[in-house]
Amino acid sequence: MKKVLVVGASSGMGRELALKFAENRFLVGITGRRKSLLKEIQSLHPNVICLRSFDCRKMNNSFEMGQLKDEMKGFDLLVLCAGHGEINKSLDFELEKDTNTLNVQAFTEISVWAFNYFVQQGGGHLIVITSIAGLRGGRVAPAYNASKAYQIHYLEGLRQRAGRLKLPIHITDIRPGFVDTAMAKGGRRFWVVSKEKATRQIYKHILRKTEIAYISKRWRLIAWLFKLLPATFYKKF
Ligand SMILES: NC(=O)c1ccc[n+]([C@@H]2O[C@H](COP(=O)([O-])OP(=O)(O)OC[C@H]3O[C@@H](n4cnc5c(N)ncnc54)[C@H](OP(=O)(O)O)[C@@H]3O)[C@@H](O)[C@H]2O)c1
Repeated sequence: MKKVLVVGASSGMGRELALKFAENRFLVGITGRRKSLLKEIQSLHPNVICLRSFDCRKMNNSFEMGQLKDEMKGFDLLVLCAGHGEINKSLDFELEKDTNTLNVQAFTEISVWAFNYFVQQGGGHLIVITSIAGLRGGRVAPAYNASKAYQIHYLEGLRQRAGRLKLPIHITDIRPGFVDTAMAKGGRRFWVVSKEKATRQIYKHILRKTEIAYISKRWRLIAWLFKLLPATFYKKF
């Protein structure tokens, strides 16, 4: 039986993915701050879901994840869905700090913990939900775009490291456009996909061990255009 940890599984894409793994006979470890929601998910598949509730921003992630790993007697995949972003019209530093604490610091702690575990074990698969936002800066939520860029580059570094180690450690970077979850904020949204559709696509990419995937597929085009836009033009948006 394959074992997967889903970090940030109480709602949104993490919740849907955790359920999909459970339906497909994985042993699933789920985390999030809202314990009642995690328990509700566990009640749907009580024999294959373990849970641990904690706030990733407390930076005690290695310990908390370690407890869950021990309860499950190891794991093969880790899907990191916990993420944060706030529209920051007044450019309030506290909002930026909250985003960075989760998307940069906690992300790094969890990724390092998982990667080192995979090295010890001789293989594994780390999957992170980053964002199309990580491809360019953004005035509405500068820390969000910057933190997602950090994640994208960090994952590339880990992929290179796995290659150098010649170990079967797979790194999947999932880059959604807009998905209809609590996270999707802001007025000008387009090509929004349901979390069910997004999750179906993400699940397929996980099984295929895709390195970089856009959700939905058509966002690959936006990504391409986004990267091509000259800075002098982009700054006027
Ligand atoms: N929705 C979109 O349009 C979109 C687009 C691109 C990228 N993404 C990325 O997709 C990922 C998943 O987001 P989602 O759209 O599925 O939104 P969501 O429903 O808000 O899910 C976020 C998950 O992260 C957990 N989480 C948040 N802060 C946490 C913390 N401090 N400690 C522990 N867990 C925490 C939440 O659980 P608790 O609140 O219970 O802790 C929840 O389970 C995020 O990284 C987001 O940046 C989303």
